[in-house]
Amino acid sequence: MLATILFPSPDPIPLPAPVWFFKVLHATVLSLHFVTVQWVLGWLFIGVLWNFWGRMRGNAPMVAGSNKMGGSLPIIMTYLINFGIPPLLFTQVLYGSFLYTSSVLIGAWWISVIFLVILVYSSLYLGGERAAKSKAWWGFGLLALLIALSIAKIYSSNMTLMLRLGVWTEMFRMHPHGTALPHADPTLLPRWLYMISGGLTIGGIALIVTGIWQKRDVVFKGFMVMHGGWIAAAGALLQSVVGFRVLHAQPAAVQAMLDANVLYHNLLSVWIGIAALVVVLGLLALVLREKASGWLAVAAATAGFLLTVTMVVYRDGIRDLTLLTQGYDVWNLKVVANWPVVALFLGTFVIGLLLMAGLIAIVLKAKPVNKEEAI
Ligand code: HEM
Repeated sequence: MLATILFPSPDPIPLPAPVWFFKVLHATVLSLHFVTVQWVLGWLFIGVLWNFWGRMRGNAPMVAGSNKMGGSLPIIMTYLINFGIPPLLFTQVLYGSFLYTSSVLIGAWWISVIFLVILVYSSLYLGGERAAKSKAWWGFGLLALLIALSIAKIYSSNMTLMLRLGVWTEMFRMHPHGTALPHADPTLLPRWLYMISGGLTIGGIALIVTGIWQKRDVVFKGFMVMHGGWIAAAGALLQSVVGFRVLHAQPAAVQAMLDANVLYHNLLSVWIGIAALVVVLGLLALVLREKASGWLAVAAATAGFLLTVTMVVYRDGIRDLTLLTQGYDVWNLKVVANWPVVALFLGTFVIGLLLMAGLIAIVLKAKPVNKEEAI
């Protein structure tokens, strides 16, 4: 069936480790990438609104909250980028012939991501500097948000196009220079919206955690936890609605295969359960406000992360089953395991993660250098 669609055959070099090994690593790092993507999108959205409204209305906690977000965003962005690179490598290993083809087909847009990421980063730095001095930063924030949303759209387009083998030839005939960015696919808009609405969920949870973490100002804590609570709850509800749109927009054969597969069938219930838990925790935060303690921060952060992991695994199932309907079974890739290399890789991977955790711990313990950052 594959041969009739004409696409490059998988790399003849066998995989140096089993498929499940790459899948586990891919899901782990992609979950971290998605958490940071949603965190950046969410804090940009909330931070820009709070900075604008707070300054207009002279609302001190709102301005302080927005400055806290504006000042932290450049650091979170570094994690977003660093957690984006490993899944790109694993996706290329498992689905290279699909991802390369779709990336070439939208080549002009795909290459523009590099420059767009640089623009987002620059805007975040300029905004962050102003936030640290308690100056208005919503203009830079808005610019960063709009560009980040465009990057997300390009990613969603590519990840969708890599599954639509049937449109490739015609697309190449019509736009041989890679200037087209397809938007007609019924799954594209919902999957983009799912990631964006996740910004409210993760952004809200990050507000709860930040409010509880700082112990200096009770009014500020109450403000952050209360708003974080309702924003996270609203985000999880919105994600549930959009998530079902993503599911029902899939081709009928893919929906049937997802339903018949024990893992994905049960995962859907787990996903609904975790989304409901986020809503409950968000409402608890709304009620508890300044009385909220550390356990709520830990529970909300864990639930937010697990919600993202569930989505990543389910999303992977959609990709595998869609490609299976077209004759490609990722689990059939040739494997010649090279365990010493795998062990070396795992060792350096774990050291890398520990170094990152150490850096995060240092950043969290660092003393603020001026009064505005102290909040
Ligand atoms: C502001 C910058 C970025 C944003 C907003 C962003 C957003 C997104 C979104 C929304 C998706 C999911 C697309 C979908 O499935 O519908 C995604 C996937 C992905 N992103 Fe990012 N991203 C950014 C930067 C990066 C960077 C710099 C890299 C790596 C160099 C990266 C690597 C990936 C990979 C590898 C995937 C998909 C992996 C897979 O499907 O297996 N991203 N990103």
